[in-house]
Amino acid sequence: MEKTYALGFDVYGTLVDPLALAETLRALVGEQAVPFAGLWRAKQLEYSFRRGLMRRYVDFDVCTRQALRCTQQTLHCELPESDQDRLMEAYLYLPMFPEVAASLNALKLQSLQLVAFSNGVEASIRALLANAGVLPLLEDVVSVDDLRTFKPDPEVYAYLARRTGRAPNQTWLVSSNAWDVIGAKAAGLRAVWVKRQPDMVFDPWDVEPDVTVSRLDELPDWFAQK
Ligand code: LAC
Repeated sequence: MEKTYALGFDVYGTLVDPLALAETLRALVGEQAVPFAGLWRAKQLEYSFRRGLMRRYVDFDVCTRQALRCTQQTLHCELPESDQDRLMEAYLYLPMFPEVAASLNALKLQSLQLVAFSNGVEASIRALLANAGVLPLLEDVVSVDDLRTFKPDPEVYAYLARRTGRAPNQTWLVSSNAWDVIGAKAAGLRAVWVKRQPDMVFDPWDVEPDVTVSRLDELPDWFAQK
């Protein structure tokens, strides 16, 4: 059967949980663990956005490591190089959200083309998804690294559509990151917002997701009815 749509799954925050690093961090920074994990993630994203705007590309792993240094300095908890290396290694073993594997399996049974689509470096994303056991459920891994820029540059969403061989309006982004959903919509793609927590806010930019779900396991029924 011909596949109707391609679905590009954002990785960090959508398939795997970067904030779960708070568990690993607890042994290193004690009660700062939760704010540390949050600031690290926020700085990592800020660095990628700024790098994209400035056209001073370094890959996402470098953004992550530089954000780790900034977080330590901001929270006054300097870690030895060996602990920083361990934390970077832990980024390759982030836990998957519990419903991901079953949801991808169910979507695969429908006429949908499933790929990962991330700011991350392809080799790191492949290792992460292999460690989480979901790499075989995805047809491809599309990384912005090929273009040396970052989401939400419109070029990277057009690239996702190109790589899946589809028109933008036949290509869906699935992401828990509101800024990512807005980026995809601005580039003419369709988008699912995964509102994983009830208090997550969608930026009031006069752009709406095509559909909002709270977990990925709501998607198989939704796409079955499309
Ligand atoms: C990703 C991050 C930015 O692209 O969530 O996977």
